[in-house]
Amino acid sequence: MQKRYFLRSSALAVTALVATYSIAQDNTFKIGLILPMTGQQASTGRQIEAAARLYMAQNGDTVAGKKIQLIVKDDTSVPDVTKRLAQELVVNDKVNVLAGFGITPSALATAPIATQSKTPLVVMAAATSSITQASPYIVRTSFTLPQVAVTMADWAPKNGIKTVVTLVSDYGPGLDAEKYFKERFLFNGGQVPESLRVPLRGPDFAPFLQKVRDLKPDALFVFVPSGAGAAVMKQFLERGMDKAGIKLIGTGDVTDDDQLNDMGDGALGVVTSHHYSTDHPSPLNTKFVEAFTKANKGLRPNFMAVGGYDGMRVIYEALRVSKGQGDGDALLAAMKGQIFESPRGPIFIDAQTRDIVQNVYLRKVERKNGQLYNVEFAVIKDVKDPGKAK
Ligand code: DHB
Repeated sequence: MQKRYFLRSSALAVTALVATYSIAQDNTFKIGLILPMTGQQASTGRQIEAAARLYMAQNGDTVAGKKIQLIVKDDTSVPDVTKRLAQELVVNDKVNVLAGFGITPSALATAPIATQSKTPLVVMAAATSSITQASPYIVRTSFTLPQVAVTMADWAPKNGIKTVVTLVSDYGPGLDAEKYFKERFLFNGGQVPESLRVPLRGPDFAPFLQKVRDLKPDALFVFVPSGAGAAVMKQFLERGMDKAGIKLIGTGDVTDDDQLNDMGDGALGVVTSHHYSTDHPSPLNTKFVEAFTKANKGLRPNFMAVGGYDGMRVIYEALRVSKGQGDGDALLAAMKGQIFESPRGPIFIDAQTRDIVQNVYLRKVERKNGQLYNVEFAVIKDVKDPGKAK
């Protein structure tokens, strides 16, 4: 008797569970966030995940009647792993959007999955110009290397820098940085006696820096991905390059806010061009930095965090405008053309290219309230990706 009762009630419980589950399914909107959470690019993953969670904490987890579910996966920044995880997220978890993508090869490896499954793919970190052309379903909220590199190539020759050696990580964004910096700098009358490329994985900068010392240019222009800047700065100073009269310039990846404060006084005065600084003086950014720092044990948000935060905004707004439809094409259409104020300043998702149009700032490392910051001193407004003009 007791057994029969138990069976009946557990069958009921199971039925109830299944019913709840299918309702949850219908009302759930899933974002598959693929990031490097371990390995050389781990700071990118940590920053973007923290920013995505902050966005959700501030804006709620329900949009147009759908409950937002964030599924975070660690791709260890190995492109084959990124692709496999994306496939599983699309096929098994039935995610509505793919997002994240810490490095260019991971974004490129996953592009065909976005196209085949008609799933919008929001690139929050990777920054090689060509990525948005790899699938019509890709939208970008980070930046492009050509965008920031040309800004530096315009500034440097007007500020006493006539010869530059370039030093970049030998893969997509590095090659973009080198090409666009060099072309524009030569056009502006500068000279580039040598262009050096270092491996992405476990680079040893020492032999390259020795070469730069021997060449003695006015400046060394550097691109390395987020997380690698501190090592470059350390070796640059250890070799006394600054004392030899060689300036360090670059895109803002090298004075990454995630690491800058630990770089020491040797970093003071370094000028870079970039789309985001923790120090960006706007009320919205002040609020963002305060909330991010508070929620993450004092961690300072860097440009990766802002790419993740804005990427979530683009997804939330697309879901709202498309009235809760999970449909990929409707979401994509509502992502195109979004215009809003980001903690970095005003931004715009160009409907034609699906790439980001944004201000690029010139910044100098200064000490403020005892901490090192990239302090903005000039702005070039509404910069499109120069890589799309060709
Ligand atoms: C890429 C990665 C970075 O960490 C960065 O700062 C810029 C570009 C990339 O792989 O595209």
